[in-house]
Amino acid sequence: MKHKIVVENLVKKFGNREILKNVSFEVYEREVFVLMGGSGSGKSTTIKHIIGLLKPTSGKIVIDGINITQLSQNELIEFRKKMGYLFQENALFDSLKIWENVGFYYLENTKKDKKWIYNLAKEKLAMVGLKGVEELYPSQLSGGMRKRVSLARAIATNPEIILYDEPTSGLDPVMSAIIDKLILKLRDEIGVTSIVVTHDLESAFSIADRMAIIHKGKIYAIGTPEEIKKNEDPIVQQFISRKPDGPITKELFG
Ligand SMILES: Nc1ncnc2c1ncn2[C@@H]1O[C@H](COP(=O)(O)OP(=O)(O)OP(=O)(O)O)[C@@H](O)[C@H]1O
Ligand SMILES: [Mg+2]
Repeated sequence: MKHKIVVENLVKKFGNREILKNVSFEVYEREVFVLMGGSGSGKSTTIKHIIGLLKPTSGKIVIDGINITQLSQNELIEFRKKMGYLFQENALFDSLKIWENVGFYYLENTKKDKKWIYNLAKEKLAMVGLKGVEELYPSQLSGGMRKRVSLARAIATNPEIILYDEPTSGLDPVMSAIIDKLILKLRDEIGVTSIVVTHDLESAFSIADRMAIIHKGKIYAIGTPEEIKKNEDPIVQQFISRKPDGPITKELFG
């Protein structure tokens, strides 16, 4: 299997706090790779490096054989076309209509006519279960609907790679299951490679080809869902079995 994304010895310091400690993992082409870990463990920071929003203190991010940490700002913008990113905090533009948010890339960077962009937005919105919201503004939607608009925007450019930062948080169980199905459908029908950050254990175990557990900036386990279930590391076990007592609790509360 071909490596699509390679994260190699990624170290990130904010001031003198080391947030990522030699994080390394590979993601294969057409794989759904789930990154799990507690709040503040470094999940969002990791995927922000993969999209090139953050520069590492040291280490490499190699995508399709290219070390993106060495690209210039313009080269990076060009490179990002193949990637879709669902921000954890949605990051919709409040002053733009829903269809303009979804079609933002095309409005900003291409000469496609508005009708074409509108229809594309409508099609992508339908894929996440939203109809008739094209002309509304983000403030007129519920939190879960806004999440799905962000998801529609992340898939709008038909990216080869999609990075999802908590795609199902704040969604009801049925909608979460629909989003899980969509992630798998994009893999199976278009061959998308995905990294999904989530706290949702049920969702993680149902969509992951492989998964990694990160804790305090360090990867504790990488493997298939079956391998992770059998992993005996106490941190991994406490995390996946939702236990209130264990090594994670000791670190938090002493
Ligand atoms: N720009 C920044 N400047 C300083 N510290 C930061 C910055 N971004 C993140 N951090 C710190 O890095 C650590 C990891 O943050 P990150 O957002 O990656 O966590 P996370 O695993 O995504 O958590 P959550 O599940 O709550 O979203 C936190 O301690 C956070 O305070
Ligand atoms: Mg986060």
